[in-house]
Amino acid sequence: MSYTMERWYSATGQRFSMRKFGGAPEEADMRALEETARMLSGDGVRLSLGEDARVFKSIFLGGGKVKGTPCFAALIYKGDAMLRCGYIGESFILECTALGLGSCWLGASYKKSAAAEHIKLAKDERIAAVIAFGKPGEAYVGRPRKTLAALTGLSQAALIELPEWQQLALSCARLAPSAVNGQPWEFRVEDNRISVVRTSGNFGFGKLDQGIAMLHVELGAAHSGMSGSWAITEDAAVFTPQA
Ligand SMILES: Cc1cc2nc3c(=O)[nH]c(=O)nc-3n(C[C@H](O)[C@H](O)[C@H](O)COP(=O)(O)O)c2cc1C
Repeated sequence: MSYTMERWYSATGQRFSMRKFGGAPEEADMRALEETARMLSGDGVRLSLGEDARVFKSIFLGGGKVKGTPCFAALIYKGDAMLRCGYIGESFILECTALGLGSCWLGASYKKSAAAEHIKLAKDERIAAVIAFGKPGEAYVGRPRKTLAALTGLSQAALIELPEWQQLALSCARLAPSAVNGQPWEFRVEDNRISVVRTSGNFGFGKLDQGIAMLHVELGAAHSGMSGSWAITEDAAVFTPQA
């Protein structure tokens, strides 16, 4: 199992949406995150870091709630790369957590024009969301989640009977963040596979949410030593472990 996968897996239990920060990260952490952003960018998605507190002054959905840091990472995509945006953005978020920093996905409550001032967008590029990050300014408070029984349709008895990798993957996917905590997924367990099925558009963030849950499935599986690959259909992403 790669070091990064285990590092991010551990972070999934500590991550939460932080909106009160205690300042920008130290220089060394900023450099580390710039390197992470470079490493994660590719295949139609890139992360661009900036510092401008105006980005958080939005009138939408809890806008203006993010305080105490000017730091943001803009998630930029072209084509139909929304799933990948979710996957890459959550990787960045978990690296922030692993560094001891706070972070928050912002799909609506940010000022896109202020973020765009810092980015040279190509004609076919769009900003999918931004991620606020910085030194922690508030303590962890766990948010409610649907039960695994509700997310899978399986009984408690059936869940306990699943192979370890599936139990770990599902438990990790259950912790995945989603816009307005909508959890717009069904986790379908079939034979030796897990599908992340999109159950709603979730105000336009359904695909981002799906990509986030995919990363969590993969991290949980990796924690039990299982790697695999994804097959994507219209609403479902199917994870099959390597034989
Ligand atoms: C794609 C996406 C978009 C989000 N957009 C916003 C947002 O615009 N404003 C905000 O305050 N929180 C936003 N959030 C944070 C969610 O509200 C939060 O993840 C969810 O309530 C679960 O809480 P937790 O992250 O603390 O576990 C977003 C999360 C995701 C995944």
